[in-house]
Amino acid sequence: MCGIIGYVGSSGETLGTLLQGLSNLEYRGYDSAGVALAASPLTVYKKQGEVDALEDAIPNPAPEGHAGIGHTRWSTHGPPSDANAHPHTDCHDRVAVVHNGIIDNYQELRDELTASGHEFRSETDTEVVPHLIESFLDNGANPEEAFRSAIDRISGSYAIAAVFDETETVYAVRNQSPLVLGLGDDGTYLASDVPAFIEYTDRVVYLDDGEFARLERDEVVVTDSDGAAVEKSVETIDWDPEDAGKSGYRHYMLKEIHEQPHAVRQCLRGRVSERDESVLFEELPNLDADGPVHFVACGTSYHAALYGECLLQEQGTAAQSFVASEYDIDRIPVDEETLVIGVTQSGETADTLRALRGANRSGATTLAVTNVVASSAARECDDVVYIRAGPEISVAATKSFVGQQITLALVANALAGGSSPAFRRALRNLPDQIQRILDESAARSVATTFIGSDAYFFIGRNYHVPVALEGALKMKEITYEHAEGFAAGELKHGPLALVTRKTPVIALVTGDEPTATKILGNVSEVAARDAPVIAVTDSPGGVGQVADRVLVVPTTHPWLVPVLVNVQLQLLAYWTADELERPIDKPRNLAKSVTVE
Ligand code: F6R
Repeated sequence: MCGIIGYVGSSGETLGTLLQGLSNLEYRGYDSAGVALAASPLTVYKKQGEVDALEDAIPNPAPEGHAGIGHTRWSTHGPPSDANAHPHTDCHDRVAVVHNGIIDNYQELRDELTASGHEFRSETDTEVVPHLIESFLDNGANPEEAFRSAIDRISGSYAIAAVFDETETVYAVRNQSPLVLGLGDDGTYLASDVPAFIEYTDRVVYLDDGEFARLERDEVVVTDSDGAAVEKSVETIDWDPEDAGKSGYRHYMLKEIHEQPHAVRQCLRGRVSERDESVLFEELPNLDADGPVHFVACGTSYHAALYGECLLQEQGTAAQSFVASEYDIDRIPVDEETLVIGVTQSGETADTLRALRGANRSGATTLAVTNVVASSAARECDDVVYIRAGPEISVAATKSFVGQQITLALVANALAGGSSPAFRRALRNLPDQIQRILDESAARSVATTFIGSDAYFFIGRNYHVPVALEGALKMKEITYEHAEGFAAGELKHGPLALVTRKTPVIALVTGDEPTATKILGNVSEVAARDAPVIAVTDSPGGVGQVADRVLVVPTTHPWLVPVLVNVQLQLLAYWTADELERPIDKPRNLAKSVTVE
């Protein structure tokens, strides 16, 4: 996600501290960067591209100020550009604002502010905030009052920091997006993530949702939404700078697995109404699937496509997934009636782009489901829907796969013309359920138990076949152990010959009758050949009798069980690789974005 840094201290140090903070946040991924100095006048520098490009754009000598804020942006509203980079300012450059998250009601606020004469200079949701602040300043509010009043008007997820001209203060607030304050000897700091200021101080205060902070040179004051002071404890961080980018996790992969509750919330934000739980998928007003639907994708994204295919088929749509490198329009019938959905985290995978370009040439309607705003897939398709998982650093895709699953479930809903209240409720509960798995999973001890196995086999039925394939892919790419996924019914048609007491079988035992009975039958087949069985299940009662180990997932709507099951499989692969001391974030021979066919 985007990164925030703020500083109040010695005037000569402000710009350097902000730029260092932005460099420290580069690991999060970004496409533009900027800083604002509360000098007289308020001064903003921002640039598409890397922090180096921003530094080159700053004059020498630069203006000085005691307070400043900085931001690395990873686009969500509006493509990467100088204008869309943060900080954003009001019409008269009195206040500058940086923001992480998504402001749900930005469109109505933007319409209202435009109608009252405010001029917008970017396509971002963030820019409503400085204009709102300006409107309260115009009505006589002081900076702090104006900041609080503006925050009262917005809904969504946010970590926001602001500086005003001719002041020596940074104001900040958080709601569902992290913010941490740093207490140094020579100043105070604010950041989305500790690494931003780790070389300056190790004493930190974590803000909670709904809390405001006012940073002065020698103190930070935290208040609640009513303005009452909040006593916060000061914690000491004991990470070394190398670990800091991972926020204390051993690997980016583990960090990204743990970011999934947040990624799901971001994906759902503004798409499932907070009030009546209706699904509002406004990005896709004209979407229809009267004709066939083809998915094209590679690797993990292909597994997400297979999951989307299951959902659409269940609704009577003729859906089919293709490995993108095999999508040949000279062989496969594609025409104006076909909707071709490219599923691609990066939006730059050569095989997927080639398939989408072929579909475009055939007159099909194309839709990109991607994580990267303004990526090639996003630009070249007729429509685009973003999964909003945030940047993924680890080569192995985790949170982007979950984002793809949720987005495709919403697309399936949109194509079906609505959704059941039970499904909508289940979506809303999903982030907490994922969190429960992260907190309680037994995957680490299961992983340790089966180290030294000859191979790992993953079996499932129905919606769980894609997840079985994904579980095996994750296991093989980061552990270098042999792993394969199968439709459980296929076992007895060949793979059963490989099953021994040295090949654990990970069985995804979920679903209603008759699927549950059939998969239990498959479990018995492998158990009879002495293979250890690890059941991943939402109903541990029955299978607990047959399985050697059980990884439990909470019960939910049938469409969403595979999302939960997958989290257990990610953890199983991760802890197996960790035990084997593999280079988890950068597996040999693999790249994050594959831009050759
Ligand atoms: C596996 C993995 C890859 C990608 C594949 C497609 O963990 O990440 O299999 O899923 O290379 O990449 P995107 O989604 O960027 O098109």
